[in-house]
Amino acid sequence: MHIHLLPLWFFIIQIIPVLGFTDYLLKTCAQSGFCNRHRFYEANIKESKNRYYSVDKSSIEYYKEENTHKYVFKASIIKTIPRPDVNDIKVELPFTLSFFEDLTSLRFTIDEIRTNRLTELLPDFLNTYRYNETWKWAFDSEFNLYNSELTYKESNWLSNDIITIFNEDESLKVELYTNSFLLKVYYDNKLSIVINEEQLLNIEHLRSKEENFQQLLPEESSFNMFGDNFEYSKADSLRFGPESVGLDFSFIGYKNVFGIPEHADSLRLKDTSKTEPYRLFNVDVFEYNVDSKMPTYGTIPLMIAANPTSSIGVFWVNAADTWVDINYKEDKISSHWISENGIVDVVLLFSKSVAGITEQFTTLTGKPQLPLLSAIGYHQCRWNYNDEADVLNVDSEMDKAHIPYDFIWLDIEYADSRQYFTWKPNSFATPKKMLKKLENLGRQLVVLLDPHLKVDYFASDKCIENGVAINDKNNKPYIGHCWPGKAIWIDALNPLGKKIWDGLVTVFVDKVKNLHMWNDMNEPSIFDGPETTAPKDLIHFGGWEHRSVHNIYGLSVHESTYESLKSLKSDRDQRPFLLTRAYYAGSQRSAAVWTGDNVANWDYLRISIPMVLTNNIVGFPFIGADVAGFSGNPEPELLVRWYQAGIWYPFFRAHAHIDSKRREPYLFDEPIKSIVRDLIVLRYALLPTLYTSFYNSYISGSPIMKPMFYEKPEFEEFYDVDDQFYIGDSGLLTKPVVAPEQTTVDMKFAPGIYYDYFTLDHFVIKGNSVIEKTIETPLEKSAVFIEGGHILTRKDRYRRSSQLTKYDAYTLLISPNLNGFANGILYVDDGISFEYQNGQYVVSNFTFQDNKITNKVIHSPDELAYDGNMSISKIIIPIGSGKVKYSNVATVKMNSNKIVVNVSISDDKKSIIINNPSLSIDTDWELIL
Ligand SMILES: *[C@@H]1O[C@H](CO)[C@@H](O)[C@H](O)[C@H]1NC(C)=O
Ligand SMILES: *[C@@H]1O[C@H](CO)[C@@H](O)[C@H](O)[C@H]1NC(C)=O
Ligand SMILES: *[C@@H]1O[C@H](CO)[C@@H](O)[C@H](O)[C@H]1NC(C)=O
Ligand SMILES: *[C@@H]1O[C@H](CO)[C@@H](O)[C@H](O)[C@H]1NC(C)=O
Repeated sequence: MHIHLLPLWFFIIQIIPVLGFTDYLLKTCAQSGFCNRHRFYEANIKESKNRYYSVDKSSIEYYKEENTHKYVFKASIIKTIPRPDVNDIKVELPFTLSFFEDLTSLRFTIDEIRTNRLTELLPDFLNTYRYNETWKWAFDSEFNLYNSELTYKESNWLSNDIITIFNEDESLKVELYTNSFLLKVYYDNKLSIVINEEQLLNIEHLRSKEENFQQLLPEESSFNMFGDNFEYSKADSLRFGPESVGLDFSFIGYKNVFGIPEHADSLRLKDTSKTEPYRLFNVDVFEYNVDSKMPTYGTIPLMIAANPTSSIGVFWVNAADTWVDINYKEDKISSHWISENGIVDVVLLFSKSVAGITEQFTTLTGKPQLPLLSAIGYHQCRWNYNDEADVLNVDSEMDKAHIPYDFIWLDIEYADSRQYFTWKPNSFATPKKMLKKLENLGRQLVVLLDPHLKVDYFASDKCIENGVAINDKNNKPYIGHCWPGKAIWIDALNPLGKKIWDGLVTVFVDKVKNLHMWNDMNEPSIFDGPETTAPKDLIHFGGWEHRSVHNIYGLSVHESTYESLKSLKSDRDQRPFLLTRAYYAGSQRSAAVWTGDNVANWDYLRISIPMVLTNNIVGFPFIGADVAGFSGNPEPELLVRWYQAGIWYPFFRAHAHIDSKRREPYLFDEPIKSIVRDLIVLRYALLPTLYTSFYNSYISGSPIMKPMFYEKPEFEEFYDVDDQFYIGDSGLLTKPVVAPEQTTVDMKFAPGIYYDYFTLDHFVIKGNSVIEKTIETPLEKSAVFIEGGHILTRKDRYRRSSQLTKYDAYTLLISPNLNGFANGILYVDDGISFEYQNGQYVVSNFTFQDNKITNKVIHSPDELAYDGNMSISKIIIPIGSGKVKYSNVATVKMNSNKIVVNVSISDDKKSIIINNPSLSIDTDWELIL
């Protein structure tokens, strides 16, 4: 064991948190060896006519493994390094191409054959292959890995040798140009994407430092190939030398690209030709910069190109430090992907719509979980609630102020000396008693559980004894600094590590039903590590360097925690709730996430919206930003505006830094307190609608906070709008105020009729194009509309928690469009157990048409075990469309019965109301106005 000296910046961050993010801790592309080299190569190869990569045609093989149904096209790409006067150096790079059976997609990989001569010089504990297992973490274990049949043919066209490969139904055609590795992909006979069009393919093959000079291409630089001169990562041993991979993708005929979170930046990705590239590298970035391409906590390496009638996804299945350059051109968009190591493993997805990309991506990487109903309620968090009395006091103060909430949270200080799996003895002497008290009102508690374990206590001892800590470059347990001081890190990539973790979680939770987990700091964050994270030459299970697996580490930790909680099923038959900070593609299967350590100022409120939207379109919708900013003290106006936005985040949590003033909503002065309470109450009223959006997401991966272009792809005007959005398929449309003293907002509307959510006033947008309209937003009011054509379901009665709404009846809010039509789905289950997987749920389809409301039950089990209230106690129909004909009675037909119900007009004459129509959501019926 050795002692790490804490660098000066460690103290600066800890003591003066108000300074904002310290940029110099993170590399720029120019300071990153491999990023610098690929940009250098890009600049030079564009000028030169040299081509170093080609496909060896004699190596082509159509490989078919009957028993696994694997149909794979294989060939060798040859990298040729010209040598004057002597034989050229040839490097063999195995290439595979295949099509998944269940998707309109194509996958290709490029690996390297490494010579024994060089790998023998490396220590035995190192795995010397290129890491090729990222897909195992990213893909859903239930995904059908079968490949579909493919066909190929060779042809000569001009001087190029071209091989044409089709998928089974020939919706995809790939032309492989062998003379200079190039792929053209046609989707429905239209050229859609070209790979290596810019000739940026460059695979840095294994070589020794001594022979490096003969291994370089003329267009290459040797910057930092065998050593790192960046201030904080000079110790990196870079044992493999240069081993990065780079490749370009050109989206033909596209004008917009999205995705590749997480960045505090716009939804539509920006051109980077004159700026830093977007970096994908999970790091702890306290008070990260906004409007920036700097890396943050999570990575989903999916880029989506979208047009009104087609869409493409590029999924770069690599977990190493990655940079992406984007260049918008006249008739296409090129993107340049650069990763520090690993193989090239790419899945391309094709669809007519952007929704089709999200759907296929979540078929591949897993659908977002269906969370506990309570988990989509309001979460009250703070660093820290100090002791049991504090927790129970917050709990009762919320009730006194009539503010509903479901989850209360304990940050790091609940544990004894920050040793997770323990409780601080005096402050939390009787945690089970406290948990029981919370449970009585249906409330849940979350505690923080980080992957770093303080040295010299039972949990870390157990990890070391079992050899499941991450090792240092000499293969001994790595010791770094984090919250508890000196700590080790669990290696959750190790199956035994997961087992040890599972044992620790199980003992700690000890069958308590309402205890949940929060995996923070799992990038991992290491205070004395380079770029605030783990040294890249640490060693994981399997002999892999941390460099290869960095971006999946967080996923491995939270998935392990989730599986532990889920395995307690027999003792607590409920879905676990788990929050993670670090993430990767696939994290949506088991966790919620938040946008990390933001600040209580307007910039962070503004940027939270595109950040949340981006995650929503790449299959990870269960996300939110800390309301009303983690650090700092929000002024009352900002508080209100942040809650007005925050009630729409799929994950809705208030959180505050230890140095900020207490700001539980019952502490606010009037009228702020009432405004905020009414907002939280609104969130609760809409839980049935939101939960239905989560269900849709669980079925199809669809966004919950949904960008304008996603809902209305036909309007070009919406592709760069990222400050207003829809909620699922509900028709709810909002644009939060994100700047001070803004009593109006300008919103963009597609043609149709829109109802003000609060007043049910309406207006009509005529014509065929998007119109901008100014909406009044005094402090107490935000701009929330329902687009005509939708039916919302609510539970209007105030209750202290979501569980307590179980026996309340539903309200239907029917907002007809200009044709007098509206439709909406409602999903209902017990909100707690996994029984929905056994068909224990109800889906109703409400339609309003020709002055008739119908309910068609799409799904209902023979016997529903859930005994919640299924009745509808109120129907509201705004009449502004002029299409609603009504009298003072309506006829209900259900089974063979016919009854008459009263219809009344609201006091403000804007809607008709049917009270107690004796209808239920789980039977078919008709109500004729
Ligand atoms: C990963 O690489 C190893 C070593 O080259 C190889 O044996 C294995 O088949 C590869 N796995 C996949 C899925 O490509
Ligand atoms: C459902 O709600 C209605 C209306 O509030 C109420 O009359 C009825 O008793 C409730 N039913 C159940 C089973 O809770
Ligand atoms: C619900 O009903 C509408 C017609 O009112 C129909 O278009 C839609 O497909 C139905 N949805 C489902 C999921 O069955
Ligand atoms: C409907 O209205 C009539 C006349 O006002 C009244 O007598 C009756 O009680 C009402 N029915 C219900 C179910 O409220």
